[in-house]
Amino acid sequence: MSTCYLDGRYLPLDQARISPMDRGFLFGDGAYEVIPVYSRRPFRLEEHIARLGNTLAALQLPDPHNAGEWAVIIRELVATNDWEDQSVYLQVTRGADTKRNHAFPAQVTPTVFLMSDALLTPPADQLASGVAAVSAADFRWLRCDLKTVALLANCLLRQHAVAQGCAETILFRDGFLTEGSASNIFIVRDGVVLTPPKSHLMLPGITYDVVLELAARHDVAHEVREILEDEVRGADEIWMTSSTKEVLAVTTLDGRPVGDGRPGPLGRRMHALYQDFKNTVMRSG
Ligand code: PDD
Repeated sequence: MSTCYLDGRYLPLDQARISPMDRGFLFGDGAYEVIPVYSRRPFRLEEHIARLGNTLAALQLPDPHNAGEWAVIIRELVATNDWEDQSVYLQVTRGADTKRNHAFPAQVTPTVFLMSDALLTPPADQLASGVAAVSAADFRWLRCDLKTVALLANCLLRQHAVAQGCAETILFRDGFLTEGSASNIFIVRDGVVLTPPKSHLMLPGITYDVVLELAARHDVAHEVREILEDEVRGADEIWMTSSTKEVLAVTTLDGRPVGDGRPGPLGRRMHALYQDFKNTVMRSG
């Protein structure tokens, strides 16, 4: 049984308990982060904690810890678990009230919960063949830049893919690409890597930033701009990115092949650059 952290204590995950009056349970009133850990080193911790801070500020929920305290909790959790590479899940909710009331209670203590699991990145066969995706209208709210635990829309959209034997649902809003149900999306057209700009309509992915940094550093032609749905449907390549999927080629969209239906050259290059970065920079801190 893995060890988790709940409100100041490290304990076996199956012994952790929270109140049913917790606003995270009743309202989805909380923020979260997923932090990849390589060779026991949390990757881009500062950026993850800053993104958590942005979400908490927008939720008017005081951050219960400063960056140094978060780093200590995360490192301790990572040390108590078995795996060299882990995926740390961190959640802060507004806490447990005595009544169910939509408006914020005056005085509650936030609930802080962290757990960790082995970091499972895509297996070799998925990397070789790419994955299938479907599309859907993005019916989420207008604060998709916040990483809140209120993920029902994302869950419905991911299930829409899974029900059709697919890995991801690519979302369009008003004719433009936003992101995936749990990933950011890049496309390639005419040798140029394209991805939408950060806005309230998508999560500012840490992996998204890394991919754009790698593209700039290695002279991969790229442009950050609004992308029309038709441009995605006619793309030479589509990739999904996230902390756990890294850079994964999407090779069919709604049953039709993307490009020639196999992972394309720029996606393979970006995957290789990402792996190289991971095994050098990420693993050394
Ligand atoms: N999700 N967009 C959405 C909607 C996401 O849920 C995620 C990640 C991303 C990619 O962000 P990052 O590169 O920082 O992982 C984009 C995590 C992995 C999750 O909910 O499990």
